[in-house]
Amino acid sequence: MTRFLMCPPFHYEVSYSINPWMNVTVDVDHDLAKSQWFRLFGAIDACGGSVELIDPVEGLPDMVFVANGGLIDGEVFLPSSMRHPQRQGEKTYLCDWFAERGWKVLESPVDCQEGAGDALVFNGRLAGGHGMRSQRSAYPAIHAQTGWDMRLLRLIDPRFYHLDIAFCPLNNDSALIVPAAFDAASLTVLRELVPDPIELTLQEGLAFSANSVVVGDSVIMSACSERLRHLLRQRGFDVLLCDMSEFVKAGGGCRCLTLALDTTIGEAALT
Ligand code: ARG
Repeated sequence: MTRFLMCPPFHYEVSYSINPWMNVTVDVDHDLAKSQWFRLFGAIDACGGSVELIDPVEGLPDMVFVANGGLIDGEVFLPSSMRHPQRQGEKTYLCDWFAERGWKVLESPVDCQEGAGDALVFNGRLAGGHGMRSQRSAYPAIHAQTGWDMRLLRLIDPRFYHLDIAFCPLNNDSALIVPAAFDAASLTVLRELVPDPIELTLQEGLAFSANSVVVGDSVIMSACSERLRHLLRQRGFDVLLCDMSEFVKAGGGCRCLTLALDTTIGEAALT
């Protein structure tokens, strides 16, 4: 994955609470947020990735978390259906951005599905998270529309309310997984899907270590234990740290601030 969409944090703030990380009485340091965002942007660039930008919109403070905008398959964009009204206004700006650049824009699902924040491509298959934000029922409807090969994963801990805080594909063999975020059946599905999982401790998960951006053999993350750094090193990955303290106040980290633009998803019957 080398091409990403990002949305500058010029209208970012924590003005409502829609996940357990958000506390409206905690101040965001806006200058620090900007410098953290630009550092992430620079890190992606330095690792050989390219970043395209969508303009931020006043009154849509969470639009900076562009991972939730939708799902990508080749030149097809499936816009998300956000659960909370505070984020529903983002959709038209994202659809316009993709349509203006010649992408095929599909109809968003009727039931909630929060884009690549809740569904990640691993080895050509879509791992679809549900139970917190996205609804399970959204996925069969998406399958009917696209034919995508998918595996569904139930999230059970409100602190891991999006899949991208608990699961991070690294390549076709390996992925970061926070076991505590999933129900037992889903963990079995994940362990079958990923031949070489790196399982994170709850503490590593809560430090947003699974909310990482992978560019080639670089993993950009907000925090990394020595243990995790070693496990990544063994698999040929280097870790780049980008502190995301101001975005964690909204429940987001590095990965949430990006949408990978070059994912492709295979097709298969729904099992
Ligand atoms: N405040 C945002 C929300 O609750 C954070 C989104 C984080 N995005 C993500 N892909 N996990 O929707």
